[in-house]
Amino acid sequence: MSQGDWQRDVLRELGQGTPSSESPDRPTATPRPTHSEPATDSKAGSPSDEPGPAPGPAARGPRDPRVPIQAPQSVPTVDPRLAQAMGRPVHGDSVARRTGRSLRTLGASAAREVAEETQRARELQQPVTTGRLIAVTSVRGGVGKSTVAALLSRIFNHYRHDPVLALEADAALGTLPVRLGAESVRWSCAELAQILTPSMQLTDVIGYLVPVADGGWLLPASQGRVGAPLDVRTYRTVTLALRRYFAVTVVDCESLPGEVARTAMDTAHARVVVAPMTAEGVNGTRIVLDWLAQLPHSALATTVVALTANSPDTTLDLKTASAHLRETGVPVIPVPYDRHLAGGGPILNAMLGRDTRDAATVLAAEALQRAVRVR
Ligand SMILES: Nc1ncnc2c1ncn2[C@@H]1O[C@H](COP(=O)(O)OP(=O)(O)OP(=O)(O)O)[C@@H](O)[C@H]1O
Ligand SMILES: [Mg+2]
Repeated sequence: MSQGDWQRDVLRELGQGTPSSESPDRPTATPRPTHSEPATDSKAGSPSDEPGPAPGPAARGPRDPRVPIQAPQSVPTVDPRLAQAMGRPVHGDSVARRTGRSLRTLGASAAREVAEETQRARELQQPVTTGRLIAVTSVRGGVGKSTVAALLSRIFNHYRHDPVLALEADAALGTLPVRLGAESVRWSCAELAQILTPSMQLTDVIGYLVPVADGGWLLPASQGRVGAPLDVRTYRTVTLALRRYFAVTVVDCESLPGEVARTAMDTAHARVVVAPMTAEGVNGTRIVLDWLAQLPHSALATTVVALTANSPDTTLDLKTASAHLRETGVPVIPVPYDRHLAGGGPILNAMLGRDTRDAATVLAAEALQRAVRVR
């Protein structure tokens, strides 16, 4: 793809046409940042020269290149006084369960488990031709979207050797940066929307992103303050531009039916809908799936449900709940209650319960399988 045509090509691929305000001949940002302090020392290198300017708070049209841009301040994701009060993370599995597991894996089921894991690894490592977007959303708030998005991004990073991005598209003081272990954030979607240009290299771009400890990159939706919500235009500009650099982008969306969430669901290559393990949660999710069935681009065929138990006391029958959602034709992957996830704070791979890790791996593989099918 020629650089001059990059946005047009991506838009055509998404079936959206090329908005005149986002003409590839008239990029919305300055060709190269004039000053900035990159946020990172990355595995892929640091910005090739001094990276970029920080623009105004919202992407509302082409920025006047004569207006100097202030670099945003680095802001801690958790107030240091609170961070000190965080207890030690709890393991997802009890000691007894961990011991039982390791004994069992010496037994007869070991070969089958290895075969399944090999198959999953193959699916997760499959090459992608252009960057794939996987959007995570839900029918209402607080059900586990950010947790699932963080798990997916960790799984993709674990298995893939190409760059993976976790993109927060929920400006409502989201939790993705904390879940991915970011201690501070700086550049956010609104600023990058004005900085990104087709001539930038990956090494330039990652200077504006937060490196994640276990690999990969994070772009937060905000600097953790109450501010202007992310708008659709910003979301589209950022995702269209960043797709060039990242093999897989996991988008942590706001809840439906928010405008950005609907846009993200409509334009992603695959969707993960997080359903809480309650009757009302499953009922509402079924309604969303029926809505997705009416969208173009075979939206349902590229949708996966994560049926999440974020309480140890769920009473809804898992089989019945899964069957109700599966009637729409989508795969349903149960994500079990996990003490480590329930505790909040950074998600540490080594502390996750085995079943949680397995569920996240299956979820990531199923989502990617669907995402690569879409042209
Ligand atoms: N599998 C799980 N086991 C235990 N607790 C979980 C699990 N998944 C999520 N949780 C807990 O549920 C709560 C909500 O999760 P999360 O912040 O991911 O939801 P959200 O949908 O992103 O919320 P919001 O709409 O506010 O962005 C958190 O306290 C989280 O720790
Ligand atoms: Mg969230």
